[in-house]
Amino acid sequence: MDLIKEIIRNAQEHKQRIVLPEGDEPRTLQAADRIIADGIADVVLIGNVAEIKKMTAEFGLKNIDKATLVDPKNNPDRDKYAALLYELRKAKGMTMEQATALAENFMYLGILMVKNGEGDGLVSGARSTTGDMLRPALQIIKTIPGVSCVSGAFIMFLQDGCKYGTDGKMVFADCAVTPVPTAEQLAEIAICTADTAKNIAKIDPAVAILSFSTKGSAKHEVVDKVITATNIARERRPDLLLDGELQADAAIVPSVGSSKAPGSNVAGKANTLVFPSLEVGNIAYKLVQRLGGAEAVGPVLQGLAKPCNDLSRGCSIDDIYKLVAITANQAIAQKSNK
Ligand code: ACO
Repeated sequence: MDLIKEIIRNAQEHKQRIVLPEGDEPRTLQAADRIIADGIADVVLIGNVAEIKKMTAEFGLKNIDKATLVDPKNNPDRDKYAALLYELRKAKGMTMEQATALAENFMYLGILMVKNGEGDGLVSGARSTTGDMLRPALQIIKTIPGVSCVSGAFIMFLQDGCKYGTDGKMVFADCAVTPVPTAEQLAEIAICTADTAKNIAKIDPAVAILSFSTKGSAKHEVVDKVITATNIARERRPDLLLDGELQADAAIVPSVGSSKAPGSNVAGKANTLVFPSLEVGNIAYKLVQRLGGAEAVGPVLQGLAKPCNDLSRGCSIDDIYKLVAITANQAIAQKSNK
């Protein structure tokens, strides 16, 4: 995949500092060693330092001495992070005592370090669930100004010879975060996904907001939601090639697009698909992956003020390495858009 090579090269050229809260997890530690060796990112490893050192010796890792190691249970800066957390969450009822306890939690500490500017992004998930990372990220890092809804996109690398997408790629969202988006949230998801398609998947986005209806062929309140979302997204980002409501075939098949949605600037050539709910998006990406033989890379979380990404617990060392490179690319893109 040339795209991954390009992502790696960009990460090497504009080195970012990435926090790995599961630093004492064996695959994460081995990935960190390769990330440092290849100059992909500067790495902060959070974890039991004695355990990290023991595994470093066991695995014969040569580069971990160049990482910053932070032990959450023995951290001279604990009170600094507790005070930051308390400030951020006291209005939500958090006490100083709770903040102090959470500042010793590896995930909260990692998120707080990123919030505090000691990391440009974060990758976790080799042994934590999506929610374990997302909740503190949503509470502490919050969203990019102008965005209220975080979502998760997959870059779908289609099988060789597939006639859909652009350069063998499509981007799907939301497949990971917001179960039932409002029209406003769906519009934000579409806009963020267009930016992910451009900045990370390196395709010019043609965005379709999908439905079971094309241009009024069916009437239902969930179709109305997609129509409203399309109007909001268009108003906010007139620069984007974006249309809805479109059925999946009308979105990607030229002959169906021209017969069901004549005049649409997206129908028949969409490469960025926005699903009306998380159920649809999550099911769709897994079916395209399993039945269609596509490789799904993600979820790339979009909309957070600083990039934080989540691995599957079955991830490989290579998956962690690539997701760190992708996270670094998101940080680079965010900085260049400021
Ligand atoms: N965007 C931005 N902020 C959000 C979002 C969102 N989508 N969702 C919640 N928040 C904020 C809330 O406003 C709240 O902020 P506040 O405390 O400052 O007021 C904070 O996050 C916590 O909100 P809750 O509603 O208490 O959080 P919840 O317990 O609902 O968790 C979560 C949010 C984790 C995102 C939940 O919606 C979830 O579990 N989503 C599905 C994740 C999942 O299982 N995905 C499928 C698996 S991943 C895969 O297969 C690739």
